[in-house]
Amino acid sequence: MLKQYIAEKADLIDQALEEALPANTGCDAVLIEAMRYSLFAGGKRLRPILLMAAADAVGSKGERFTSVACALEMIHTYSLIHDDLPAMDNDDYRRGKPTNHKVYGDALALLAGDGLLTQAFVTLLSQRGVDKGILCIVVKEIAEAAGPYGMVSGQVVDLLSENKQIDSDTLKYMHQQKTGAMFRAAVRSGAWLAGASERQLTALTEYAKQFGLAFQITDDVLDVIGSSDKIGKPIGSDERNHKSTYVSLYTLEGAQKLARHSVEQATCALEIFGEEAQILRQLVQYLLARES
Ligand code: IPE
Ligand code: IPE
Ligand code: MG
Ligand code: MG
Ligand code: MG
Repeated sequence: MLKQYIAEKADLIDQALEEALPANTGCDAVLIEAMRYSLFAGGKRLRPILLMAAADAVGSKGERFTSVACALEMIHTYSLIHDDLPAMDNDDYRRGKPTNHKVYGDALALLAGDGLLTQAFVTLLSQRGVDKGILCIVVKEIAEAAGPYGMVSGQVVDLLSENKQIDSDTLKYMHQQKTGAMFRAAVRSGAWLAGASERQLTALTEYAKQFGLAFQITDDVLDVIGSSDKIGKPIGSDERNHKSTYVSLYTLEGAQKLARHSVEQATCALEIFGEEAQILRQLVQYLLARES
């Protein structure tokens, strides 16, 4: 059921991304090529899928919200392009292909990221069939998650924590910001778009918080014991960059235990929902077994 849901929604998202950022547009050809290179390199589309699954849980049809879902994927892809730059993690592979800067150079990779980030909001605002007031709330939700009070702040803490022993609170904060914030925005946006009640929104926010934490802990784990073929990016990047991670602070087994704990917490947060939240339950369980 989960596998089929993921495949179907990922297909819809790919089609919508193709429409949102077609190859032959009026602007600079190499810029669009660089943006599309990373966008269509084969990401899991997890954030857009979560948005749709959250809307489904509230009783709407999540696949109605493809434009907002695409915006999340465009912002996420920009963050990966910049994250891989020599000035940041200096990684050569992403999504199974050479990183954007390896193909287009650092300057164009920066600009491709800038292009994806800004065009994301144009795409988001082209969402049809949604009350404009709700769309404004969603714009704020996503902009805050991506910006200096969300992902960007987490990335800064990540960089400033290289070659250092940081405490557990700082590590948790860093994970919740650099990765969790976008997952929180994905789930909460799906909830807003579907007309969630206050109680549903609170429950889904807690789910997303634990999901984001479990996701980044498993990302840290896969950087140590994953297969670079399967994850499509180099392993050992964190150790090479002397990063502070859940594995470096808690050991591998400790990190895996904490990931399991977050998955349990996320599942508990969904108690108020019935069958309609089954995909959300399965999605968070999948984090513990994921190999990519
Ligand atoms: C990788 O995210 C970056 C992190 C936030 C850890 P994903 O593992 O979702 O990457 P893609 O989108 O599938 O490439
Ligand atoms: C980056 O975390 C999260 C982003 C905001 C892109 P990582 O640096 O651990 O992500 P990967 O492992 O390179 O995908
Ligand atoms: Mg990084
Ligand atoms: Mg990285
Ligand atoms: Mg990582």
